[in-house]
Amino acid sequence: MEAAAPLLEIEGLAMRFPRPDGGVLSVLEGVTLALREGEILGLLGRSGSGKSTLLRLIAGLARPAAGQIRLLGRPVEGPPAGVAMVFQSFALFPWLTVLENVELGLEALGLPAAERRRRALAAIDMIGLDGFESALPRELSGGMRQRVGFARALVVHPAILLMDEPFSALDVLTAETLRTDFLELWSEGQLPIRGVVLVTHNIEEAVLMCDRVLVFGSGPGRIVADIPIGLPHPRDRLDPLFREEVERLYAALTAEGTGRRPPQRSEHLPGSGIGTVLPNLSPALLAGLIEALARPPYAGRADLPPLAAALQLEVDRLFPIAETLQMLRFAEVAGGDIRLTAEGMQFAAAGTDERKRLFARHLLAYVPLAAHIRRVLDERPGHRAPWTRFAEELMDHMGPEQAEASLRAVIGWGRYAEIFAYDDQRRVFSLDNP
Ligand SMILES: Nc1ncnc2c1ncn2[C@@H]1O[C@H](COP(=O)(O)OP(=O)(O)O)[C@@H](O)[C@H]1O
Ligand SMILES: [Mg+2]
Repeated sequence: MEAAAPLLEIEGLAMRFPRPDGGVLSVLEGVTLALREGEILGLLGRSGSGKSTLLRLIAGLARPAAGQIRLLGRPVEGPPAGVAMVFQSFALFPWLTVLENVELGLEALGLPAAERRRRALAAIDMIGLDGFESALPRELSGGMRQRVGFARALVVHPAILLMDEPFSALDVLTAETLRTDFLELWSEGQLPIRGVVLVTHNIEEAVLMCDRVLVFGSGPGRIVADIPIGLPHPRDRLDPLFREEVERLYAALTAEGTGRRPPQRSEHLPGSGIGTVLPNLSPALLAGLIEALARPPYAGRADLPPLAAALQLEVDRLFPIAETLQMLRFAEVAGGDIRLTAEGMQFAAAGTDERKRLFARHLLAYVPLAAHIRRVLDERPGHRAPWTRFAEELMDHMGPEQAEASLRAVIGWGRYAEIFAYDDQRRVFSLDNP
């Protein structure tokens, strides 16, 4: 049988953004991939590895610095026909009904009104929104709103559906229902699409849904592994073969040079080093993992997947915690393993005050944003600075949501370490009884 031409071909793609200091932020380099007919292709990578940027390039919403994108054999030079996107945030118009929101997807196609209506109703029916046609978004649950997002994308009958973390804003059960419903429609050939690119940072979701997963490394974003998932559908998360695939993806994600926030990262952002997106995890959660690891049977070292099972944590929840401990040099993560450093062991054995001192030392040494805030406060006569002072600075390096999350994270850590204080009401940092 002759192999069909890929639906989508990308070759040597690069994307760069200018930095305020005149330098260049390299977000994607040398990305080459193909989406085949009938395939669900996963893009798995840490926050900031350029996945959303890649989707925007495919959707023709931005132009690459270098490289080629061909969709159905034609170069992408602007928003092409034949792709539609589902976003994490539902992006619905609050004043339009479900039906109107879905019909909006067809606006650009120039169809007669009756045909628009017919197709919108069919999409609404297929995705399980029958009876909600005249509801407004605010009257719907999160899961139903995201179904509207799916209907609006599917109604155009795109050859390729791009999905940017479409389940990550939903609660666990709702997300699983929507994934299952989507897979069922897909397996039964009911969806008017020929291929899917699914962006996710959730390893289990990638194994559940994808035929193949491209693992992204960051700084700059690039593909570090191409892993086929051969399990038949429907897939069972408890199947040992499923667990094996999860471990394989873990190992690929934690392999040398992928997700690590390398020390030389600060060299990418000279003068500041504050451009690293920080996960908003509480000190209690971080301390909890250090303690668990220090205890028997681990004695400082564990395999991540069994550790997650023992702690009754979703593996995808454990991973960012482990990575944060690595960033703070309390642990090292490699090849699916986590190991406490000498300082990590010291932290586990210490009392409250010594823990705070140790945490403060590492925070100031390894988290440039924390050191930066402290320095600004030290230098200012009144020792205060508003939230916006740092939020605006961060937004030179990252999106507003990432900036918000990073500041929230550093506030939690800075308070615990008592290196600065933050007044939630007045939104001001200070050195008042930190
Ligand atoms: N318009 C932009 N200007 C400057 N930097 C950007 C812009 N869009 C994205 N970035 C940066 O590119 C990097 C990758 O972002 P993104 O594609 O959103 O990653 P992901 O979706 O994998 O989390 C981040 O460091 C982000 O701050
Ligand atoms: Mg993204």
